Amino acid sequence: MVESTEPIVPEDAAILLRFLRTFGDQYHHIKEEGVLFPVLLRTSQAQEGPLRHLLFEHNQERSLIEGLDEAVRTKKGSEFLAFANRLTSRIRNHIEKEDGILFPILEGLLSKEQDDKVSAEFEKLQIDSGLIAELRLLEQKYLRKAVN
Ligand SMILES: [Fe+2]
Ligand SMILES: [Fe+2]
Repeated sequence: MVESTEPIVPEDAAILLRFLRTFGDQYHHIKEEGVLFPVLLRTSQAQEGPLRHLLFEHNQERSLIEGLDEAVRTKKGSEFLAFANRLTSRIRNHIEKEDGILFPILEGLLSKEQDDKVSAEFEKLQIDSGLIAELRLLEQKYLRKAVN
């Protein structure tokens, strides 16, 4: 749970938002929405319902990120915390569903050829290392604060 009584530093929030958006829309979600899910759908119609549900959750994540952005712009710290907590539990729950339930079921469905194709497409998608470095610095700053 995210908790703090300190004011939000706008520059730090901007880094966080940039990371959330880039990671989601230009990297992780694109891997699933643009590469993996279409292949899975073509292979197993039976998985359409669960995959649609995961797409719905991606959109929920996007809305929560917009909520965070709005809270920063309007300087509403308590709303920022509320959106941050909702987003954290949304993402945790989503990962549990994908990694714990769905992906193990789907693993055997793809042929070697499909699997290689998906992996090759994934390789093309690289997240900006500068952005990761920025996030690491932010993480260190706030972890240090939490310890002190
Ligand atoms: Fe996902
Ligand atoms: Fe995922």
